[in-house]
Amino acid sequence: PASDPGLVERARKAKEALGERLFVLGHHYQRDEVIQFADVTGDSFKLAQQAAARPEAEFIVFCGVHFMAESADILTTDAQKVILPDMAAGCSMADMATFDQVEECWEALEDAGLADQVIPVTYMNSSADIKAFCGRNGGAVCTSSNARRALDWAFQQGEKVLFLPDQHLGRNTAVLEMGMSLDDCVVWNPHRPNGGLTQEQLERARMILWKGHCSVHGRFTAESVDDVRARIPGVNVLVHPECRHEVVLKADHIGSTEHIIKTLRAAPAGSSWAVGTELNLVKRLAQMFPDKNISFLDRTVCYCSTMNRIDLPHLVWALESLVLGEVVNQITVDDDTTHWAKVALDRMLALP
Ligand code: 13P
Ligand code: SF4
Repeated sequence: PASDPGLVERARKAKEALGERLFVLGHHYQRDEVIQFADVTGDSFKLAQQAAARPEAEFIVFCGVHFMAESADILTTDAQKVILPDMAAGCSMADMATFDQVEECWEALEDAGLADQVIPVTYMNSSADIKAFCGRNGGAVCTSSNARRALDWAFQQGEKVLFLPDQHLGRNTAVLEMGMSLDDCVVWNPHRPNGGLTQEQLERARMILWKGHCSVHGRFTAESVDDVRARIPGVNVLVHPECRHEVVLKADHIGSTEHIIKTLRAAPAGSSWAVGTELNLVKRLAQMFPDKNISFLDRTVCYCSTMNRIDLPHLVWALESLVLGEVVNQITVDDDTTHWAKVALDRMLALP
């Protein structure tokens, strides 16, 4: 069914019938069969901005994962409805920080007499209640394209940062972009008493990194980089900052999905690139820029299975239901969570 011309035609017709009432957003990791129907494609930051930029659209169909659709619901008006074509499109990284675990961590920081020095910053890849927690406690949201600016802001507000839930983005930004040392970072393990940390470690740390990671990017290793360099002479290695620190250290370029696309667009014809990010995007980039030799950093790593949940049959079902007047798979965030999560998101959107 992936390339079923009947489904392509049905999606096209449903989009046409809904006209300006519909706005379809697509994250760069989505399948080609889905991305062809997106009105706008982007990284998490661009999609959050775009969701807020179309107040006249009655329906926002979000082709991405659950936390992105939640953020879109938070940033859109009450009258707008955000739809996720498959409710199983979650994110394993976002699931690694639950609200109760984060509250427990914060209570431990309060008991340690440190909470008033700590600014919580959460990566966009987190549930709405974690974003609201950050909003309530003087913190902000960041994405991979503005993590440095969000952390600069946070260190103007306090002495330490609790960075949720991606330890790799937090560490890579602190060490490689802000000149901190690895010793300035500690990892809070939510499955261990007191995060597995001593009072002294917490007092010394500047970055308290949550023990979370992306199950896709976490699979690229230092050997992936060594192997590709041995296989392809002169290759440029370009990776997402969700990759492990040792991978990023060995890479030539680092950036969000939007940055990866811009870098490859600007690359000279004939140059070779090994890209460490989700496979749907890497394959698309190889097709978009055939004059460059673009390959996947490690052929043993696979697609993001939750991003891939959004396929053409689910998209057609969501769109045709709207045509018939039925809203399916609506994502709604309650008012209190929306209020505080928006505080944290607005702090990010206001970054210089
Ligand atoms: P960006 O598109 O912001 O780089 O995010 C990557 C990602 O993993 C989204 O799930
Ligand atoms: Fe989550 Fe990683 Fe998939 Fe992005 S690529 S949705 S961070 S599991």
